[in-house]
Amino acid sequence: MQELARKNIRNVTAYVAGKPIEETKRELKLKSVIKLASNENSLGPSPKAVAAMKKKLAQVNRYPDAQSFYLKRRLAKFYNLKPANIVLGNGSDELIDIIIKTFVEDDENIVTSAATFLEYEIIAQVLGREVRKAPLKYFKYDLPAMKKLIDKKTKLVFIANPNNPTGTYVTSFELEDFLKGLPENLIVVLDQAYDAFIDVDDYPKSLKFLDKNVIYLKTFSKSYGLAGLRVGVALLNEEGASLMERVRQPFNINLLAQAGAIAALDDKKFLAKTRKMVLEGKGYLYDTLKKSGVAFVPSVANFILVDTGKDGVAVFKEMLKYGVIVRDMQQYGLKNFIRVTIGTKKENERFMKVLKKVL
Ligand SMILES: Cc1ncc(COP(=O)(O)O)c(C=O)c1O
Repeated sequence: MQELARKNIRNVTAYVAGKPIEETKRELKLKSVIKLASNENSLGPSPKAVAAMKKKLAQVNRYPDAQSFYLKRRLAKFYNLKPANIVLGNGSDELIDIIIKTFVEDDENIVTSAATFLEYEIIAQVLGREVRKAPLKYFKYDLPAMKKLIDKKTKLVFIANPNNPTGTYVTSFELEDFLKGLPENLIVVLDQAYDAFIDVDDYPKSLKFLDKNVIYLKTFSKSYGLAGLRVGVALLNEEGASLMERVRQPFNINLLAQAGAIAALDDKKFLAKTRKMVLEGKGYLYDTLKKSGVAFVPSVANFILVDTGKDGVAVFKEMLKYGVIVRDMQQYGLKNFIRVTIGTKKENERFMKVLKKVL
């Protein structure tokens, strides 16, 4: 059916997700496998979320609330905004799709960075929109170079902050400098999937550009441990949100996800435990990588980009044999690298043991 597909679809390379634990066990006949490949939360889901979802199980014969009334109301309180400033997605992946469909005309383009979250480019390709990418500079977004790519036909800019897969971030000063003097008809998306892990002072945490054409993206997939539920959050001005609501599918946030996400927001204990695990794990991994002479990019997120000094795909495959799933960086154009999610103490130790063996 090759010739029946839309032309741009023929050139799309599908997203390759982190390898699942079950698949690895089955294929390699392994009993014990750990996954540090998708920046998930190794502590499991928020216990409060699990309890809330259990209570809702008997109601799944009904469609979910198409407006996610209670979840939006809870999020509005959390972010000190109105429910009308919020659009929810089946993960932030879906919000990226909705944003492009809502705002980018067929002949307009999108600017982002090289070696960033792959879905910006993949979704744009599927929708037939041009994507312009500036190379990274010292593993960081090069905002001045991105600014130079913007022309009259640019409608959207995607900034992952912190960036996946590098773990680097754009500072408040750099962001403000970038936003200064941008064309008025341009929308900037700040994807903050990992902001809960930030432990630096110069990260732009506030939502102060909401009145400008800035869209903030958040997700329940990382710090709240709910990647399998698929809940992403877009925060933007009311006018923009009502436009995105026209594009959104009515039941995109399922009944269990709505209940789980509300409860997770109240689970401060779980969030604190998660942050502690990530910060302690990062300290351990930095020390051990340094001692082992393995280079890495310092990260403000819950993952680390590691320079293996050899073919990253080969390292990934070899580590799989020992039951450790990491992510090779071939699709991101970082050939010698792997990305490892910071897990529990036990998982981090197993990762280091296997990495040293493989290198
Ligand atoms: C920067 C970034 N944005 C968005 C996502 C997607 O998150 P979600 O699970 O909410 O679709 C990821 C997931 O890895 C990510 O790294």
